Amino acid sequence: MTSEQIQANKEAYIKTCRDHISRDGLESLLAYLEKGDFYTAPTSTKFHLNEPGGLCLHSLNVFHTAMALYEHVLKPAVESGCSPFDSLPAVESVAVSTLFHDLCKIGLYHETKKFTKDENDRWVAYQGYNIEDAFPFGHGEKSAFLVERFMRLKSEELLAIRWHMGMFDMGEQGSSQRYTFYRALELSPLVSLVHNADMLSSHLMEKTTKH
Ligand SMILES: [Fe+2]
Ligand SMILES: [Fe+2]
Repeated sequence: MTSEQIQANKEAYIKTCRDHISRDGLESLLAYLEKGDFYTAPTSTKFHLNEPGGLCLHSLNVFHTAMALYEHVLKPAVESGCSPFDSLPAVESVAVSTLFHDLCKIGLYHETKKFTKDENDRWVAYQGYNIEDAFPFGHGEKSAFLVERFMRLKSEELLAIRWHMGMFDMGEQGSSQRYTFYRALELSPLVSLVHNADMLSSHLMEKTTKH
């Protein structure tokens, strides 16, 4: 990604936040993002969008994917009466839960020199990332906590952000954790909307840079 693309994504992100979120605390949250590496950080060390600017672009991708699912899957299902849910979440809730779902990655990835073998089997250096978590509070948990420092979240937004990794955040915690996730899915359509938008964006829309 070029520095021009990173800047354009930053402007699009801020505009998307202001267009769809009118809650107290938004401007303080945006000021917090400005101080850290949110707009220049990657979104992973070796998977999707593992490049500068990846985190901001991924967050925008998840918002747009969630809105497409909202318009083309959830809304028709709710309106026709075939969904187990009888009402739609507010678009503002979709924006809050997607645009801020990965704030836990702020300050997480640190540039470092790594090595790989080239086609001639020789070691070559490349710029990679190490993970150093200064506040290891959990993935979705940390994002939800950080957003709550600036704006009040609705229960369904808390659940959607906390559970956005779905079954990939279970580790060895077992059946009680699975039950909690399934219960969250039953409580609000926002939970599966954000989780699936995250998965689809990561796996269908975002490339990995191979070294
Ligand atoms: Fe995540
Ligand atoms: Fe994500």
